[in-house]
Amino acid sequence: MDSHPSGAAVAPAGLPATGTAPGAHRGRGFGERLGATERSDAWWFKPAIQALGLIVLIGYANWAAFLGAGHYHYEENGRHYLSPFYSPYLHPAWLPAWLSPALLVLVFPLGFRATCYYYRKAYYRSFFGDPFACAVGEARSKGYCGEARFPFVIQNLHRYFLYAALVFLVILWKDVFRAFWISGHLGVAGGSLAILFSTGTLTLYTFSCHSLRHLIGGKLDCFSCAAAGAPRRNAWTVVSLLNEHHMAWAWWSLLAVCLADAYVRLCSMGALHDPTLLTFASLFDVPEKLWGP
Ligand code: FES
Repeated sequence: MDSHPSGAAVAPAGLPATGTAPGAHRGRGFGERLGATERSDAWWFKPAIQALGLIVLIGYANWAAFLGAGHYHYEENGRHYLSPFYSPYLHPAWLPAWLSPALLVLVFPLGFRATCYYYRKAYYRSFFGDPFACAVGEARSKGYCGEARFPFVIQNLHRYFLYAALVFLVILWKDVFRAFWISGHLGVAGGSLAILFSTGTLTLYTFSCHSLRHLIGGKLDCFSCAAAGAPRRNAWTVVSLLNEHHMAWAWWSLLAVCLADAYVRLCSMGALHDPTLLTFASLFDVPEKLWGP
């Protein structure tokens, strides 16, 4: 194992003076052969299952975004379903026919996920072997310098992708309300639930974001000394509770978005009949329909 430099390290020129040079303190796995470890448990299982999940779900998302523009929405039988990959739907006249409109909007959700603290951990471990797990030999070279240089310095844009994600949530919730408007009435169908599940889990994923938690109150030492301290503390408490399960929301939301797209796509292709579960001729019918006359 490499020995660590002792004493305070000086950050290289041009990097934040944190007092510790990026890469100065490395774990047990650094300097050992890739995959070498004394661990006897199934440390490889989690990175392997993460890699499989990411390949399948991101592979599907790419296929839907690049090649699936023919069935991005379902506008029949009084339904208004739009695939979350294509929302908001933008199709300017200058867009070439071969380019999917999804690519105009996906850069924001994609950037949000790619720079997410949890996904970074997942793909650094699963794809970069950096390291695969704690106390396991890692792949990178000694020249590695953290996320302080291109291209990994882009990870620092996460907070700005969060702002975009919050705007997208407003648009996606509008799509949810449209999906519950069936043949001019309030109603519930299979597609309404699929789109609600997608946007609901995306909301939980976004509101459990580490950057949001930091913005609301994570950076404060004293709530009662800060402006709007009480509401900020309450919001921070809720976000902190969600944040404990950020990994779960990351996976559920990714799965739910793919399922919602697949549902809309299958309806649009005529391969799936969208069942109507409830309809209300007017809002006054809602109690009667739910609880009987
Ligand atoms: S840290 Fe995962 S979305 Fe912000």
